[in-house]
Amino acid sequence: MYQIKLEMKIAFMTNTHTFLAKLIHWTFIPLYAYGIFKQVDDLNQLKDESFLNFEILFAIVFLIIVLFRYFYMKDTPTLLGAHNELPKGHLFIAKTVHRLVYFSLIMLPTTGLLIAALVSLDIKGVEIAVSIHELSADLSYVVIALHVGATLYSRFKGEGLWNAMVPIWKETEKNNSTLVSKLENLEHKVYEKIEKVID
Ligand code: HEM
Ligand code: HEM
Repeated sequence: MYQIKLEMKIAFMTNTHTFLAKLIHWTFIPLYAYGIFKQVDDLNQLKDESFLNFEILFAIVFLIIVLFRYFYMKDTPTLLGAHNELPKGHLFIAKTVHRLVYFSLIMLPTTGLLIAALVSLDIKGVEIAVSIHELSADLSYVVIALHVGATLYSRFKGEGLWNAMVPIWKETEKNNSTLVSKLENLEHKVYEKIEKVID
């Protein structure tokens, strides 16, 4: 019995993201929050040259960090910490959400830079660029909320991925409650449907 418990504990300690992956993941959150909260309130603010230059610099730094992170993480297996092999349908959903997170995080500074270029060069179409910029912000809220929700759900089930990225409130064992078994049965039906489409 003790041996089994020990093995389970060891399993919960393996397969973790690298220190750099965790560092980027967690330090990126204040950067994103700053970008969202400092947002430009209206187009007229961009007439102030030093304000505009700061926005451009911020967008470039933000974009470089997101791209660096993307290329650093791209070959890391998705849901790395999971103890059991995950269904293809599950991985497909997780990868899609991660890709949408990256897409929204690339679109935000890119469309911001586009706005800056259109304003500086006095070219028409700024309103369209602003609309795409706002849509990118909305997409980022939705996909990040989905990501955090899914992560908390996984933490509740005790699948192991939480421990691979989150340094606090560690999982200690798989949740084997009847509620979790019922939810997992439901999930598997969804994954099977997805697998029929993607295979
Ligand atoms: C601005 C907020 C956040 C963003 C943009 C974000 C983005 C991402 C992305 C893109 C990944 C995939 C790995 C990578 O490429 O880095 C990831 C992994 C992960 N995130 Fe977040 N995240 C955010 C907040 C959170 C929060 C608040 C939690 C915990 C409650 C969390 C938990 C995790 C976990 C457990 C993983 C590992 C999943 C795996 O192994 O594939 N994230 N995050
Ligand atoms: C990473 C960089 C950036 C982030 C995270 C960001 C974020 C945001 C957010 C969250 C909004 C509000 C969207 C909404 O209401 O749904 C916004 C609006 C806006 N941003 Fe950005 N932004 C960035 C870069 C830039 C840059 C470089 C410019 C131009 C120099 C810019 C110009 C604007 C403008 C003109 C608006 C609309 C203001 C209005 O409602 O009239 N942004 N931004």
